[in-house]
Amino acid sequence: MIRFIGRRHACAAMLAAATLLAGCERPPVDTVQRGYRGTGMEQVYNPRTLATQASVNTLPADTPMPEPGGPLSSTVFKNVQVVGDTSVAEFTRLLVSLTAWVAPEQGCTYCHKAGEDFSSDGLYTKVVARRMLQMTRKINTDWKTHVAETGVTCYTCHRGQPVPANVWFAPAADRHAAGMLGSRAGQNTPATSVALASLPYDPFTPFLSQANEIRVIGHTPLATDNRKSTKQTEYTYGLMMHMSQSLGVNCTYCHNTRSFAEWDGSTPQRATAWYGIRMTREVNNQYLDSLAGTFPANRLGPTGDVPKVNCATCHQGAFKPMYGASMLKTHPELVGAVKATVEPAVPGPVVSANSAVLYFAVGSPTLTDEGVKGIDQLAAVVRANPDAKVTVSGYHSASGDLVQNQELAKQRAFAVRDALKAAGVAEGRVVLEKPLSAEANLAGEDPKARRVELAVK
Ligand code: HEC
Ligand code: HEC
Ligand code: HEC
Ligand code: HEC
Repeated sequence: MIRFIGRRHACAAMLAAATLLAGCERPPVDTVQRGYRGTGMEQVYNPRTLATQASVNTLPADTPMPEPGGPLSSTVFKNVQVVGDTSVAEFTRLLVSLTAWVAPEQGCTYCHKAGEDFSSDGLYTKVVARRMLQMTRKINTDWKTHVAETGVTCYTCHRGQPVPANVWFAPAADRHAAGMLGSRAGQNTPATSVALASLPYDPFTPFLSQANEIRVIGHTPLATDNRKSTKQTEYTYGLMMHMSQSLGVNCTYCHNTRSFAEWDGSTPQRATAWYGIRMTREVNNQYLDSLAGTFPANRLGPTGDVPKVNCATCHQGAFKPMYGASMLKTHPELVGAVKATVEPAVPGPVVSANSAVLYFAVGSPTLTDEGVKGIDQLAAVVRANPDAKVTVSGYHSASGDLVQNQELAKQRAFAVRDALKAAGVAEGRVVLEKPLSAEANLAGEDPKARRVELAVK
């Protein structure tokens, strides 16, 4: 069913003879044992391919990291939606790196129209780049199961080109599909996507866009529960050829060929690959597909779909992109939400002779240190007036869920009551009062609304 025709580069010179062989790397090749003795789990390396690979997979030069601190780019610039949590220095450095990674020849004007303000979204490339920033952060934050601490930057895929070397589209309908020989299911048209094997040349749509099952092996000796058709099997093998080729490895990098299905005998890399398939699917469905209306027509595929990512887009022939060298340590801004989004400072308490207003952070019932000091001041007033009582009313802002907010307002009032007790005010002298007016609740996420009011009566 399957003829392994091996790697294109190595085969070109000796095509006729080589097609007879299982693998056809021109000797000498190196083999590295990867499993127990006798399991045949070996990795075949071709030193010539490795040499070419090493040159493709080196890190680009970068400028030094700036000193931490300084104003946030979101406060200084007008239209920074994704990386607004960087300092201005980090942000400017990111744009310089990003230009080197994606558009070194074109420069800033690849994404910013000359003569227009930098905040304008006039060019589609900028809109795409913004989505790419979100995608890169998402991969680095939520797909550590695949990219670990190595992570990715724009360079991982782009390598100094506006369009990454490896992208895929859904192919146009097969011209021969309705011919006398019946549907070829995209087969027998040796395609580089499946390492030139006689397999369906689009193993991507079913697995890296759609979520079809990547299984061919039944659980019983007879074909009772196994409904996988030969065609589906061939698609699975097509994907496996692509995966092996993209990583520059053979099947035993992940499988023990005694049983391709069993996970017990498989290498840890197979689990990493399993997550990689899911990650790639998410990148295609959540990020690239959402740019369908943004890309100009000349960037779309024969059926009008957006360019998409497969294993080769990042790996480019290496078992780890750039052989595992990471740029994230010097670009922490590409890991999403590294720093908690910086919230506006909570206003300090306002304390007068017989009243106080204490403010709280978004969603928090915890008193600020300043707030505790304000309570101490007011507690002194109450202690000095033996007949006085102190009323406590909690408020919340209008954004978010009302029931939760009311609970939050109550918890804020409780926190103030407890702090008063701690400051020597007897519990009987603290009266919890429901707020009389909710006027401040109409203002959305207004820092002045997240408060507790105290009055000495
Ligand atoms: C690959 C596309 C790309 C390149 C090249 C690029 N930028 Fe940008 N630039 C962006 C994106 C995307 C944003 C918005 C980021 C966000 O929303 O978080 C941005 C925002 C900016 C802003 C903030 C403008 C504002 O007021 O909102 C400035 C300033 C800027 N870029 C300057 C530059 C300079 C200078 C260069 C060349 C060194 C450059 N950019 C190269 C994509 C690019
Ligand atoms: C996982 C791989 C991947 C990563 C990481 C990635 N990109 Fe892309 N990028 C793509 C693909 C795929 C396309 C679509 C290519 C095409 O237009 O044919 C693309 C397209 C673009 C384009 C449009 C190019 C054009 O001429 O149409 C820009 C600009 C861009 N990326 C910027 C960035 C920036 C900036 C980053 C880093 C924040 C980044 N990309 C990270 C895969 C990636
Ligand atoms: C980089 C790791 C990796 C490489 C290399 C690889 N595979 Fe796989 N293979 C997987 C993963 C992961 C799955 C399971 C996919 C899933 O369930 O989503 C799988 C599934 C399979 C299955 C289906 C097993 C079942 O449960 O029915 C077969 C068959 C298979 N691979 C054969 C091969 C062959 C043949 C090669 C070499 C051409 C190969 N694989 C190379 C990772 C790999
Ligand atoms: C967004 C970029 C990206 C894409 C797309 C991607 N990978 Fe990876 N992959 C990485 C990075 C980065 C690492 C390195 C992680 C580390 O250092 O452990 C990695 C590591 C791996 C490893 C572990 C290698 C080892 O020796 O430990 C395997 C196996 C792997 N990828 C398979 C795949 C397969 C199969 C696909 C396609 C289904 C894929 N990857 C798609 C970025 C990517």
